[in-house]
Amino acid sequence: MTELIVRDLRPEFGSEVIGLDPSIPLDPQTRQKLQALFDTRGILVFRDFGAADIKVQTYISEILGGGAVDPDDLSIFEMLVSNREERGGAPFGRLLFHSDMMWIESGCTVLSLFGQTIAQPAIPTLFVSAAHGWASLPADLRARVEGLSAVTCQDATAQRGGSIPDDVLVSTFEEEVLLTLPIGYSHPRTGETLLYICPQMTHHIEGLDHEESEALLEALFDHYYAPDQILEHHWREGDLVVWDNIALQHARPNVSMQGPARTLRKVMIPNPTKFATGLATYSKVGD
Ligand SMILES: [Fe+2]
Repeated sequence: MTELIVRDLRPEFGSEVIGLDPSIPLDPQTRQKLQALFDTRGILVFRDFGAADIKVQTYISEILGGGAVDPDDLSIFEMLVSNREERGGAPFGRLLFHSDMMWIESGCTVLSLFGQTIAQPAIPTLFVSAAHGWASLPADLRARVEGLSAVTCQDATAQRGGSIPDDVLVSTFEEEVLLTLPIGYSHPRTGETLLYICPQMTHHIEGLDHEESEALLEALFDHYYAPDQILEHHWREGDLVVWDNIALQHARPNVSMQGPARTLRKVMIPNPTKFATGLATYSKVGD
């Protein structure tokens, strides 16, 4: 069994794992240890994971999500998040907090990013815990949302405050998909209650008029994304970061196409090509 050193990144969530040998398959004890750690910590960071190829990244992402996977039978999906590569997704702009594909229930369970080409100073990726967001809700806010549901869509940026800030990346999809789920949503795998709303994708709270809905969401967002609740991952080349896309949300500050090169190789579990949601196109108000 590989000797692993685990270092907590925040008290409530996030751990760095040191000493993992990236040859696959992992032995059963190591796999079990990493799966248990992933379910309690939500995000694992492997620094200087320089030799990882797409197969290793996919395998580790699969097993952390609870899959017992044969490394020779992986459903591999790869995309680049990049301000340099021609086929890169989200090539510029700021991203508001969200979980990927939140408009499909359990659509994307695990996400990982690998630092493929990183020039400094690199724009970080930001994370918050949805379980901690719910568990730490002040009693008055908890009482206001108990029993309520929210409607999620692919991009609700235009709902926020009436005008979209110039630096926020806006995604446009070929077809609109809506999903209604309880604001206190139960994680399908761990059973934890999660605060399941976000500024990028929550369209409105069901049963409230627009102003009431926005006011309540604003109060929830102030609590959820308070600066002292955020884990920042500062990228170095060779970093592998794997997180539970349902239990955690992510965001990033503005990325410029003229800024330092930032190419992250992204893996989504399950392979998102099984969901026919259409492709996103990107724009900014300032463009
Ligand atoms: Fe995302």
